[in-house]
Amino acid sequence: MADAQAPLHADELSEWQPALRAQFPIITGHPDLAYLDSAATAQKPQAVLDAVQNYLTSTNANAGRGTYTWANRTTDLVEETRDRIKRFLGDPAPEQSAVHFTSGTTEGLRTIARDWLPSLLADGDEIVVPVADHQANIAPWLETQQLLARQGVHVEIRPMPYQQASGDYEHTALAELAGPRTRFVAATHVHHVYGGNMNVHRIRQAVGPDAVICLDAAQSVGHLPVSVADLDVDFVVFSGHKALALPGSGAVWARQARGPEFAPGGWPGTPNTVGIASLAAALDWLDAAGVDRIERWTVALVARLTEGLRRLDAYEILGCQKSLAAGSTVQQRQGIVTFRHRDIDSGDLGFILFSHGFMVRSDNHCQGSAGERTGSVRVSLHVYNTQEEIDQLLSALASLM
Ligand code: ALA
Repeated sequence: MADAQAPLHADELSEWQPALRAQFPIITGHPDLAYLDSAATAQKPQAVLDAVQNYLTSTNANAGRGTYTWANRTTDLVEETRDRIKRFLGDPAPEQSAVHFTSGTTEGLRTIARDWLPSLLADGDEIVVPVADHQANIAPWLETQQLLARQGVHVEIRPMPYQQASGDYEHTALAELAGPRTRFVAATHVHHVYGGNMNVHRIRQAVGPDAVICLDAAQSVGHLPVSVADLDVDFVVFSGHKALALPGSGAVWARQARGPEFAPGGWPGTPNTVGIASLAAALDWLDAAGVDRIERWTVALVARLTEGLRRLDAYEILGCQKSLAAGSTVQQRQGIVTFRHRDIDSGDLGFILFSHGFMVRSDNHCQGSAGERTGSVRVSLHVYNTQEEIDQLLSALASLM
């Protein structure tokens, strides 16, 4: 495997990628299929499958409860994986942060909303909610508002300003709407439909030093470098299964600097130790492969796909149109492209594409009420996807004109 530190040129990426693709048994075992749904869930490299088997056949036990070696090793695994996650996220002050394991992003966001946010908010406070993003990053905050309202605490919801033309949050408008009562801002790192990188590092400047920023990083962790120091956020929430680990694994990283300490309520029960073992292995694999290279690879494939789609006038690409122009710096499109056919229903298009061997998502993608009203087809990529798959997809789409 290549050295994670050495930069690679575009042509060298083409030489680097096949050795990584070869490590995904489900991909190599199905050469007639193209998996293009990694924003829904990603495939797993052999190293992750091995880690799961090794754990289950060597030290499987419960964590934090025993005095024998397997139990102690499992406890160590859980604690070491917390540290591993902090390192993966570039945490500059790991002694001041906490990692809480969850089943994924949805549960992570809901845990913050249910167990932590109510103690931050007082009557008259405001929270910013990204109403054009994934439902999982909208509904929990509205539920907190309703919960507090039943207790006589009125909290104002401010929709996160979003501009379709730039495909980004409107940071100037956000600065205008954010005031001293704006206590909490929910944001998304990479949009799960439009694929745009939402420039969340600009949110801190817009909302000031005191507001808590909570980042849904479901579509960024494992796909591009995520640095909590650069982003200056307070929570990062992600799913293991989209970062090459098992379903049912995920985490909330909490900075613990603004507001009360993050301490999820209730008796935690047995942790998902197998998922945690898979997550530790996945983060090791991603670091060795180089997440920056994975990002460059998928961004290059997306550019190839959007360039091809723009030549097919039966298709409309959703999201920021300016970013489609060659050399555009308006917004970085990550490894997600969503589109519609002028005449073919998106559900039908999904079936047709599968008959050609392409696995895509086709529906309205769980977008919030401010999002798309009609369905679309989403192609989402990871390191195992290839230029050939993109070219074959474009040929199949062209045959439907
Ligand atoms: N949130 C996942 C997606 O966007 C399931 O497909």
